[in-house]
Amino acid sequence: MEEHEQLHNAQVRREAPGCTLLLKKDNSFPLASPCPLALFGSGARHTVYGGSGSGEVNSRETISIEEGLERVGFTITTSDWLNAYDLVRLKALALFKKRIVSEALHARALPTVYGMGAIMPEPEYTLPLGGPEQERFLLKGTVKDTGSAEQTVDTAVYVLARSSGEGADRTVQAGDVLLTKTEIRDILQLNRQYPRFMLVLNVGGPVDLTPVQSVKNIFLLSQLGAQTGTIFADILLGRSVPSGKLSTTWPAAKDIPAVGDFGDPNDTYYKEGIYVGYRYFDTAGVTPLYPFGFGLTYTDFSVQVLSVALKQGTQESGAQEQDARGINALTRIKLTVSVKNTGRYPGREVVQIYLSCPNGVLDEPFQVLAGFVKTKELRPGETEEVTICFAPSDFASFDENVSAFLLEKGAYFVRVGTDSRHTKIAAKLTLSRTVLVQRAVEDTRVPGFSDKRFEKAALYGETGLRKKTSTYAEFDLDPDNLTKELEVSDGDAPHTPQDPFEAALSEIKSLSDEALVRLTVGQFDEHNKLASVIGNASKRVAGAAGETTDLFESEGVPGLVMADGPAGLRLSKDFFIGKQQRRETAQANLPESSTWLLPGWMKRIVNRFLSKKPPKFTLIHHQYCTSIPIGTAIAQSFDVKMAQDLGSLIGEEMQRFGVNLWLAPALNIHRSILCGRNYEYFSEDPLLSGKMAAAETRGVQAHARCGVTIKHFVANNQESGRYTSNSHVSARALREIYLCGFEICIREAKPAALMTSYNLLNGVHTAEDRELLERIAREQFGFKGLIMTDWIVAGFGSRKAKYPLADPVKSAAAGNDLLMPGSKKELNQLLSALKSGRLDRKTLQRNAARVLQLMKRLAT
Ligand code: BGC
Repeated sequence: MEEHEQLHNAQVRREAPGCTLLLKKDNSFPLASPCPLALFGSGARHTVYGGSGSGEVNSRETISIEEGLERVGFTITTSDWLNAYDLVRLKALALFKKRIVSEALHARALPTVYGMGAIMPEPEYTLPLGGPEQERFLLKGTVKDTGSAEQTVDTAVYVLARSSGEGADRTVQAGDVLLTKTEIRDILQLNRQYPRFMLVLNVGGPVDLTPVQSVKNIFLLSQLGAQTGTIFADILLGRSVPSGKLSTTWPAAKDIPAVGDFGDPNDTYYKEGIYVGYRYFDTAGVTPLYPFGFGLTYTDFSVQVLSVALKQGTQESGAQEQDARGINALTRIKLTVSVKNTGRYPGREVVQIYLSCPNGVLDEPFQVLAGFVKTKELRPGETEEVTICFAPSDFASFDENVSAFLLEKGAYFVRVGTDSRHTKIAAKLTLSRTVLVQRAVEDTRVPGFSDKRFEKAALYGETGLRKKTSTYAEFDLDPDNLTKELEVSDGDAPHTPQDPFEAALSEIKSLSDEALVRLTVGQFDEHNKLASVIGNASKRVAGAAGETTDLFESEGVPGLVMADGPAGLRLSKDFFIGKQQRRETAQANLPESSTWLLPGWMKRIVNRFLSKKPPKFTLIHHQYCTSIPIGTAIAQSFDVKMAQDLGSLIGEEMQRFGVNLWLAPALNIHRSILCGRNYEYFSEDPLLSGKMAAAETRGVQAHARCGVTIKHFVANNQESGRYTSNSHVSARALREIYLCGFEICIREAKPAALMTSYNLLNGVHTAEDRELLERIAREQFGFKGLIMTDWIVAGFGSRKAKYPLADPVKSAAAGNDLLMPGSKKELNQLLSALKSGRLDRKTLQRNAARVLQLMKRLAT
């Protein structure tokens, strides 16, 4: 293993426990030392390291939980069970493949496209667990009676695993969101049978744990990358400790809110408006199994608010700091909180601040996350004082009638706690009149429905807003000094000649039409149509997802190389140097989820198309990338510094392998727990999503010639019908929930690039949405980078779909700078549109200038 792999693996091993958490505990863990262990469950050997699709990462090796435990000295006493389960799974998989192929043929669809991302639900089976309570069922010829080895073992672990991925959504079915009968039966029996038992959840999103609530120890391991097994072993032995908190509410299946028409392939009406995740549960008064922000660790903490202060700037003295939304906040609230480790193990706690805004003209959720801070690792008995600041103006609500963010008059309550359901009021802020905090560009397209409204948040009475149950600080907010309004730029503000964009623009003006268009279309392989389509056309980095044009290479400006994330860098493991120094992949770098249905012979044919056969005696090079925890797990850390450090790890590998743009972080909101790609995304909360994305961005972009591509902009919250589904969203929900994280990341960390999504937004493909790209992203949020399409903007899609696929010409005309991964067809389409006048030259020049400008900044 190379030195960088060792260092990066060590970093992930050290940091990833911070992404994990206990949902229940009886203090029988951690274990003092490795011991004989009864290990069960699908994830024990078939550990899920991350989700499937373009987010898969190719590391040198993966360490399953079974292997991780054995490596540190555990003796697994249940190999017979694990072997027998292998066979059960193999059989179930063969049947599942058959089913998908026949469904695809029935629907007259290509099985590979139809089955992309389809995940086999966990099968039902009966295998002996051993022990006195259960009769032994012997699977013919596969399980030998192991005697009573388990009888002497007092510790058992059951690893429940679920996977999901690009191309398909999750379902509320046994084997996916619901536990199977087999899982419930086995888990409950093991919980009764063993003095020490832990249910481990190797999942990327919630499962309904209602039937196993009696289990004494439930641990959310999540999916932590290639070393998931080792990291778990460390935690089981207390060599590292969990310190995460849920970044998404875990409900019982019966309480999963019906979010609009989630999963409809044509139209999804986001009628729930702003009531997403805990904003819904808290306001509707529905108690989830585990609330947002919840998480236990081996030790315990006490938390005490020491002081609350109002920090007031004035219009004359100016802002004290730029706040998250980038509005110049003049008023900030500063809380000082003391956290003491009262238990027997080291640990870290996350202090969370929530804000309850008054219901006025606008209805308000019970509370919203307003800030968070994670302590350092505290030794038993140790105390730390942490401070958190937030600006109330950051949490102004969007009034569609005036296209502006408002803070309405009334009482605001500041709550402090360690999860969203366990908070205490720390301060009451009173605002005597309504204040307009920030104007926004007007939204011209609005859906034809009104969002759901809650006139009164259900929890208000319950937690003492009416009755004064505890003492808290009280402040009057000065309506004249809450914020300095930022001007909305008109986008055409004069640039100086030194401005790199202006310089690129003047260079562009002398280019031929073809050169101009080539800059705005990704580099494709003229001779291998399929390879370009898949985005394996990068000649400089094998297995990268795409590249910009090499037209200016001779002038010292090579194309930008792009590779996927977000759980690491997605490159081919092996390559050789081919003709013209091109780095060729010997093995096509297709996500497993898009080839899993193909029979072996067809896989070989596809591989031949997408890769090259190395000539005899050619040296094969390797590029092993480090896989990091999935996006949801990173958010669960609530640790901005950790996210930044992981970003830095990625930046270091980008430099090492020659990648300029990482196609990550992905920060779509967990609108429903059923979205198949949620694992790539951070959270149901926009503040947490934006902060994590900004931190990763800073980490990556601290490395020279490295940039991120935040994606998928915007309202891409399901996989069903993903190329042509139309998200109907109100201006308020769009601003407060779906755009907010992007805005935070753009203002705070200046990402180099942004990727539009496949879906339509209120009737227009986001890729073709000039209002969204020019007016909102560029003018309002101040985005200065490159905008690109998602892969193959006019690619796939069903003929039965209600809406057309996105159009390359319209996308370019909307200020979508770059069509990725690029194709001959797109090149010709843009050329003829330019000639016919359908595509305005000035717009294309601006697009091309932005591409050239970034090429000069990152690739030279
Ligand atoms: C995904 C993107 C990804 C791109 C390139 C698309 O299918 O939606 O997230 O970056 O492929 O692999």
